Amino acid sequence: MNAPRIDVLLQSNWAAAGLVEDVRRGLGSQPRTLPPKWLYDDAGSRLFDEITRLPEYYPTECERTILREAAGDIAATSRATTVVELGSGTSDKTRLLLDAFADAGRLDRFVPVDVSEETLREAADMLAARYPATSVEAVVGDFTLHLGHLARYSPKLVAFLGGTIGNLYVEERGAFLGALADSMEAGDELLLGTDLVKDADRLITAYDDPGGVTEAFVKNSLHVLNRELDADFDVDAFSYVPFWDRRMQRMDLRLRAEMPQHVTIPGADLDLDLFSGEEIRVEISTKFTEERLREELEAVGLEIQRIWTDPTASFAVTLARRT
Ligand code: SAH
Ligand code: TRP
Repeated sequence: MNAPRIDVLLQSNWAAAGLVEDVRRGLGSQPRTLPPKWLYDDAGSRLFDEITRLPEYYPTECERTILREAAGDIAATSRATTVVELGSGTSDKTRLLLDAFADAGRLDRFVPVDVSEETLREAADMLAARYPATSVEAVVGDFTLHLGHLARYSPKLVAFLGGTIGNLYVEERGAFLGALADSMEAGDELLLGTDLVKDADRLITAYDDPGGVTEAFVKNSLHVLNRELDADFDVDAFSYVPFWDRRMQRMDLRLRAEMPQHVTIPGADLDLDLFSGEEIRVEISTKFTEERLREELEAVGLEIQRIWTDPTASFAVTLARRT
């Protein structure tokens, strides 16, 4: 049997893995924020998976349509024998790409990287069974910290799908792309999925489904703090406020305290006094234009080979090569 290998670069004890520090820094200052990786505990990963199947959440289907069309061409022109995937989750859409590489006889290795250990382990088992000729080497790691681990793999194609790059703040994104480029050799490729700037109504609907799955996903961040840091957030006393920030070209997803709340977070040695109406930003989701993509990729030596969009021009998948 072709058992997957799992390298754990991130301690599975979340408090030790940086949650405490992130909470002190993010919630302890203004504007109050939380970094997005803490949304993906087991419950959060399951809720996200549900989001990808909502009719309102168009990015997943748009990206799948693009990959279906483009995977054959990508595999035919790529020199890569290792496919790396950052923020791989269930690697569901990625199978379109992996199938194309496997059919071409060139999928020696697949390296999915994710902070969510459970989801990653399940995906790795499934993938090892599906691609018996491929070595599956999963990494429980943080793509903002552990890209150095990837330098050992070349020639490689690094897939970063789902628009997850849009969840990083602009400075973080620059640092991330620089570190990614550093982990790549000349000729290595990046396959990047990004959501595109569009009509505000369509964006807001995608992040505010009537069934409340997205709201539950965002609120799960407070359950994570209650459980991991023994905090006492009254989760039901928050409302979910998603809005489109036109100037920054990003969705801004917040929780608003509907009454004054005194919150203690013993695990982070932090007390918060939230006034009625005070907001915590849980996530941003930046939307891109072709110009912005070109500028940011070329700034770190990633030359765009091709950009695919879906028929509704909602989402883009970009293939770039390290020069
Ligand atoms: N690629 C999938 C999942 C996207 S959701 C798709 O396109 O549908 C974002 C994924 O990134 C989640 O699985 C989450 O656990 C992971 N993730 C978030 N922040 C991360 C980080 N800093 N390092 C590694 N993985 C991260
Ligand atoms: N990468 C996804 C996105 O930005 C993550 C996501 C989807 C998300 N729906 C969400 C994050 C709702 C927070 C809230 O689109």
